[in-house]
Amino acid sequence: MLSKYHKLLKSASRIENALKNSQNRNTSTKQVVEREAKYAAHNYHPLPVALTKGQGVYVWDVDGKKYIDFLSGYSANNFGHCHPKIVETLKEQAGILHHTSRAFYCDIFGEYAEYLTKYFGYDKVIPMNTGVEADDTACKLSRKWGYRKKMIPKNKAKIIFCSDNFWGRSLAAVSASTDPLSFEDYGPFMPGFSCIPYNDLQSLEQAISDPTVCAFMVEPIQGEAGIVIPDEGYLKGVRDLCSKYNVLWIADEIQTGMGRTGKLLAVDHENVKPDILVLGKALGGGVYPVSACLANDDVMSVIEPGTHGSTFGGNPLGSKVAIAALEVLKEEELAENAERMGRIFRDGLKSLVKDKVISMVRGKGLLNAVVVNRNYATAWDILLKLKDSGIIAKHTHEDIIRFSPPLVINENEICQSVDIIGRTIKSFMK
Ligand SMILES: Cc1ncc(COP(=O)(O)O)c(C=O)c1O
Repeated sequence: MLSKYHKLLKSASRIENALKNSQNRNTSTKQVVEREAKYAAHNYHPLPVALTKGQGVYVWDVDGKKYIDFLSGYSANNFGHCHPKIVETLKEQAGILHHTSRAFYCDIFGEYAEYLTKYFGYDKVIPMNTGVEADDTACKLSRKWGYRKKMIPKNKAKIIFCSDNFWGRSLAAVSASTDPLSFEDYGPFMPGFSCIPYNDLQSLEQAISDPTVCAFMVEPIQGEAGIVIPDEGYLKGVRDLCSKYNVLWIADEIQTGMGRTGKLLAVDHENVKPDILVLGKALGGGVYPVSACLANDDVMSVIEPGTHGSTFGGNPLGSKVAIAALEVLKEEELAENAERMGRIFRDGLKSLVKDKVISMVRGKGLLNAVVVNRNYATAWDILLKLKDSGIIAKHTHEDIIRFSPPLVINENEICQSVDIIGRTIKSFMK
């Protein structure tokens, strides 16, 4: 066993080596940006920072500049960069058995399925890889349940979503989207999908009283929409209405789950249990794509051999990494830390609202956002300045900046960040 001191030394020298390597390769930010622009499709508009190394809440760019990461890889890096237990698990399992497909049994998948289902209190899991696949799986599962159990006439099943939802980029996901940037020019779209306003129980009741509705899929806090938090009681209302009308409630906790909002799951804030729970992002520890769709036997039993699957879903490498990630979440009490650090973060920034550059600070745990007042700056202006001051984050929409650091962030780091973000925002005062 390496002592803590030796581990620190080892990781410091790893960081130094990575920086030296990138400098030896003479890679500058400009070169990285230009090469990517030349050879990769322009489907993202990244902040102009070229990262080469990460450790905990910190990342370094190819020029050696250090930043605190306030995006966490869109909430996949809840455990920080290169968490030793997760990286060691990945390395070890990669050298034993990494992929088999589920054409055969392997000794790790069942262990993972048992661990995961007991952890979240469901009978069964379908393992997938990315978030969008797991959400798509939840939709397929619900339709099948609708035909087999609710006796909805063939091909008539409907699924209800909320406006401003985001669940990925597949054709099914963009068919459910209300954002033209996501769906424009990708039609024709999936039939049987419709949207109602978020945080509106009356509209929900009206929509799901239709006997051909099999499911209602919703994020407990809308992430990509700009960290939109529903009124207290909304989730409980969703639970009650879905039970009343025999409609499956699918909770998309791909961004909000795994401790991000200060509880294990965001639905835990109202002590309610969805019929289908969808997890992704941080479930793979930030090192491997792992997603999952969890449900009880009355729902999951409609799935039979050959009716759904994925080449990589449930492979030993992903399964082992996910167990390690779930263990770290508990061992390091990261949901509790997210709750505490989130409060310090929001309290520290709230006083800035009076200066008018930002009009709102909102969030739960470490899923937070500020709304930028466009009379003073754009979100992008603030992001560029924050980058220069050593914090990297990203906007959702033109005027909302999401602040979602790794859940391992400590009080010193959060206070230092509040100070930098506060000073940066104030610098746009007129
Ligand atoms: C709530 C939610 N669901 C699903 C997804 C899609 O996940 P992935 O990009 O892994 O397919 C995202 C991604 O941001 C998300 O935020």
